[in-house]
Amino acid sequence: ARTIAVSGSASGIGKALTGLLREQGDTVIGIDLRGADVCADLSVPEGRAGAVAETLEKAGGRLDAVVACAGVSDFTIMPVKVNFFGAVGLLEGLRPALAAAQAPRAAVVGSISGTHPVDDDVVRACLELDEPAAIAAATKVEESGFGGRLYPSSKSALAQWLRRVCTTPEWAGAGIPLNAIAPGVVKTPMSAPLFEDEGMLQIMKEAVPMPLNGFAEAEVIAEALRWLISPVNTHMTGQIIYVDGGAEATLRDASH
Ligand code: NAI
Repeated sequence: ARTIAVSGSASGIGKALTGLLREQGDTVIGIDLRGADVCADLSVPEGRAGAVAETLEKAGGRLDAVVACAGVSDFTIMPVKVNFFGAVGLLEGLRPALAAAQAPRAAVVGSISGTHPVDDDVVRACLELDEPAAIAAATKVEESGFGGRLYPSSKSALAQWLRRVCTTPEWAGAGIPLNAIAPGVVKTPMSAPLFEDEGMLQIMKEAVPMPLNGFAEAEVIAEALRWLISPVNTHMTGQIIYVDGGAEATLRDASH
């Protein structure tokens, strides 16, 4: 059986993935704020360090896969801290344990929002892995009333980070595929408030058009993640795979 670390395991997509993996006999080390095997706050460096140390201890120093699902979508600086630095910190911290496995795999959950307008200063600081600068830039954005750009910024930075590192000796050279599933709108506790507000729902339908089968269930995203981290994926890396009911195909033309 494989041992797989999943962040955000207590809810939504991470919870669905944890269920699928356990059903197929894998050992899952769930990481979340609460209700997980490893309880930690991935928004801060100390929390990430604690999560990495405890996960390594539980895994015995070897991990077959890591999936970063934990995320937040409010209009504050939190998406930058959790969705970008939380995911990158966890993946980088656990990478040596992946390198020790036979068929290691890593994946993150991006978002169609990563294609929406971003704040360039925030994205740049993220890609420089300068968390204090990213937080300072994000605080400015939040205070000037453009907090809605911080979630897209966090997901765009995550996608760009992934494409930069996936081909390096540390990842490709160590035999570790690193990919993202980028959902459209998924029915989880995160998106639940949208469905209670007709106005918000209308705005979301325009920002994320999903002509194929509408809003997705968490299990649909979890199935795609399951394939990405399975041993059969020997050659796909650096990909941002949109599992979004056609949103990306609607919003972006294919000529670039
Ligand atoms: P969710 O809210 O159901 O689950 C997210 C989990 O992350 C929660 O259990 C939460 O406790 C955990 N988490 C949040 N902050 C944390 C922190 N500081 N430390 C540790 N754990 C923390 O949300 P959902 O929908 O399952 O989201 C999973 C991923 O999918 C996120 O990265 C989200 O951005 C992404 N996503 C979700 C979409 C949706 O429509 N629901 C669409 C596109 C992407």
